[in-house]
Amino acid sequence: MGKDVIVACDFSSKEQVLSFLDKFEGKKPFVKIGMELYYAEGPSIVKEIKARGHKIFLDLKLHDIPNTVKKSMAVLSRLDVDMTNLHAGGTVAMMKAALEGLTREDGTRPILIAVTQLTSTSQESMETDLLIKEKMEDVVMHYASNAKLAGLDGVVCSPLEAEAVHNRCGKEFITVTPGVRFADGDIGDQKRVMTPAEAKKIGSDYIVVGRPITAAEDPVSAYERCVLEFVD
Ligand code: C5P
Repeated sequence: MGKDVIVACDFSSKEQVLSFLDKFEGKKPFVKIGMELYYAEGPSIVKEIKARGHKIFLDLKLHDIPNTVKKSMAVLSRLDVDMTNLHAGGTVAMMKAALEGLTREDGTRPILIAVTQLTSTSQESMETDLLIKEKMEDVVMHYASNAKLAGLDGVVCSPLEAEAVHNRCGKEFITVTPGVRFADGDIGDQKRVMTPAEAKKIGSDYIVVGRPITAAEDPVSAYERCVLEFVD
């Protein structure tokens, strides 16, 4: 599995995202399209960015009954995205259905990864709101194992969990890790962060980087710095 830097394009309009990508000229970073941009612009934004030659991680975090998720994944697969995701909390049956829906007639499909517990969920809110009394790290590892059992390719997780996920689910099981900051950068609202170089050392397969690139004075050199630290 090739290591790569995925740029979180958290913009709310086509104009903003395309003018951001125009700055990269010949370069074609792997792009993450999230709910904000997708709900604002619809499938056409995925097609347009894909047609410009970028790989796409469509981060819509599906969670519904298995049949609905299966059919929705079939639609997303036809958009020719390279990676997409769902909530492991939707059960193993839902994840298996998603994988079936995602698989194209020729047997190819995008990479499918699961969100375990959102990093915004605390131990306390998990216990109080969700009535899950286990330790957060045990829940995360259990959900990662369920994703593997269902046949998924990996999970989104904190860089701090990547090593444990690999130990539990195998080196081939992909870890996609947000929460990345430069050593001399602003951490913003992220609580537990790692530098691209540290993420490489602990074995992350892909890092997802948003504001350290999108809000940088020079986004292209910020992206190149990430690639240099993480990939090269
Ligand atoms: O700007 P920043 O680098 O913090 O962006 C990180 C990206 O990764 C955002 O799109 C955010 O929604 C996403 N993400 C995250 N933490 C998770 C899952 C996704 O920061 N646990």
